[in-house]
Amino acid sequence: MFNNKDLRSAIDRMPRVSLANIPTPIQELTSLTKFLGGPRILVKRDDLTGLGLGGNKVRHMEFCMGDALARGFDTSVNANLWISNNSRIIGAASKKVGMRYICVVVGGKNKPKQGNMLILDLLGTEMHLTESRDMEEGIRLAGELSEQVEEDGGVPYLHTSEPMSRSSGSIGYLDALLEINDQLNELQIHEPKIYVVTGASHGGLALGVKLLSLPWAVIGVHVAPKDIYFADTVGWANTAAELMGLPARLNWEDIDETFDYIGPGYPDPSLQCLEAIRLMAELEGVILEPIYTGKALAAVIDHIRQGVLTSEDTVLFMHTGGLPELFNFADTF
Ligand SMILES: Cc1ncc(COP(=O)(O)O)c(C=O)c1O
Repeated sequence: MFNNKDLRSAIDRMPRVSLANIPTPIQELTSLTKFLGGPRILVKRDDLTGLGLGGNKVRHMEFCMGDALARGFDTSVNANLWISNNSRIIGAASKKVGMRYICVVVGGKNKPKQGNMLILDLLGTEMHLTESRDMEEGIRLAGELSEQVEEDGGVPYLHTSEPMSRSSGSIGYLDALLEINDQLNELQIHEPKIYVVTGASHGGLALGVKLLSLPWAVIGVHVAPKDIYFADTVGWANTAAELMGLPARLNWEDIDETFDYIGPGYPDPSLQCLEAIRLMAELEGVILEPIYTGKALAAVIDHIRQGVLTSEDTVLFMHTGGLPELFNFADTF
């Protein structure tokens, strides 16, 4: 049977650059647990991974940049929304390993230089701001910019078409799963209910649970309707599995997910999300944000209030970061 050691070896065979401040701590949320009167709640502090203000994607970039450097690329080219944590961390990681960074900031024209856009600027990103929020148009422009780099003698890594740019997220979270497994064993927690914003990280955790037959539940919380942002949890994880030669693949039936906490629409928060952010800050001094992590905690809180989670359960809430965008939402609080 495929075991932890086999997974460790498969991960260690992948090209990797050390970028993240890991292991990140798992902390007890004692006051929140008491306030909600339900299950024991802990938080995995992946907001503390360090590079470029941290978050889950620093783990992803260890493998993505490993891939880019191993294959001889010298320029990262990306396109994503003006609020994108993906763009910020790709930028920080690219600069850290000595690559040039060109980014199409979709919908970024006439937006205040705040949040992730400010960090992009500080990173020395060559930014191309578009007016519309049309991602297709942004991806097309990134393709043209990539061709231009090539014409000028550079070697562009086009994140919008490189499978590893997303699948590195699942590899990063197969690695995180082994880290979490050690930490939970030490805490004698064997059947956690893990809540995480859905995406490549969720896919990595779900794949790891399947590979190792762990008695864990991993619940992915959607933050946007599928037609606005399709998180290909299964596809990204399975590409990772293929690249790593792993003996299992995910099906959509393996994925536990909820669409109930999207709120009024991406990126705007619901009242439940704003309440979750305030509770976490007031009771624990831990800061979340309204696009991703606030929605995931709103799911935990609602599942406790609905009785889906009981005092028999232990919840591990994944704090995946994303904090720079909090400040763009000051008026909603
Ligand atoms: C803060 C944060 N958490 C979670 C996610 C989920 O996606 P992924 O696991 O693919 O990074 C995102 C995606 O942008 C994010 O910015």
